[in-house]
Amino acid sequence: MSDFNLLIIKWYRQNKRNLPWRLTKDPYRIWLSEIILQQTKVDQGLNYYLKFCTNYPTIQALAAADEQQVLADWQGLGYYSRARNLHATAKVIVANYAGIFPSSYENILTLKGIGSYTAAAISSFAFDLPHAVVDGNVYRVLSRLFDIDLPIDSSEGIKEFKVLADELLNKDHPAEHNQAIMEFGALQCTPSNPNCIDCPFALTCLARKNGTIQQRPVKKGKTKVRNRYLHFLHVETEDQIIITQRTEKDIWQNMFQFPLIEKNSAEEISVIQKEIEHTYNIQVTDVIPNIKHILSHQHLYTTFWKTKTIPEKLRSNKAYLIIPKETLISYPIPRVIDRYLEGN
Ligand code: ADE
Repeated sequence: MSDFNLLIIKWYRQNKRNLPWRLTKDPYRIWLSEIILQQTKVDQGLNYYLKFCTNYPTIQALAAADEQQVLADWQGLGYYSRARNLHATAKVIVANYAGIFPSSYENILTLKGIGSYTAAAISSFAFDLPHAVVDGNVYRVLSRLFDIDLPIDSSEGIKEFKVLADELLNKDHPAEHNQAIMEFGALQCTPSNPNCIDCPFALTCLARKNGTIQQRPVKKGKTKVRNRYLHFLHVETEDQIIITQRTEKDIWQNMFQFPLIEKNSAEEISVIQKEIEHTYNIQVTDVIPNIKHILSHQHLYTTFWKTKTIPEKLRSNKAYLIIPKETLISYPIPRVIDRYLEGN
């Protein structure tokens, strides 16, 4: 075994966090944890993992669940396509694989919502197959240890890091090796304040030697961010509220929201107020402007327009539901609206 493999596993055994998905070989639970942990921190993901294990203890239970319920249980994690794919894939595994999770990297990779990272994670953690994981932690650790300045978001960089990760993989202990390198990135070789003083690679880390730790990993360019300006009509009478189900194939597909007018640019508030009052034929009673919500590729600027009148136009339109206020909690709603409601 190479020095790297010995040192990383030794470090891992001494420093690892005690996380429940590391105590199982059940591919279903490992898959669940990996999907939850995409774009979610461990602290936050942990409760959702436990909730999903309780509510859907088997893949059959998840496949049999109602999509609305799965989305409601996902509420607060964001990036709802993950939950939708999770549910759809559970159904596929029950229908096409007799409920048994596929056990080869290639078959796992064909499943919806599973890319090369997740396929490598499941095949190594659950089946001890020799596939190296490459996530943000691994990019950071390898780019520093070897002082690699290839951009991690270029096709050349992606290939090169994958080759290196596969070469370094401990073929006798792929599961522990993969957990170890990710954990090392999460706890020790962190993005802004890595603990280089007390590091097992202090003497061999090339970025440390060359003074380039802060510049690693290199990214070619940030992905372009789209600005969206969302104007929601918050109709609230004594005991009712109006919602509508989204149909667009986007991050909030099938979720429920307030009646919406979307704009591509910021417009003057008085101009929009006129448009809203005219469109719905109502009087606005209050405006809660510009709550900014940052997603990875979108900045959402939401404004909530309050009124006490149910617009006649919406009352007669089947797409809009007029529901008792207290039942809102049973509908999956986007996090932006949820957050607004917490304060209003
Ligand atoms: N993030 C993604 N996968 C993880 C895992 N298995 N353990 C800890 N953090 C993770």
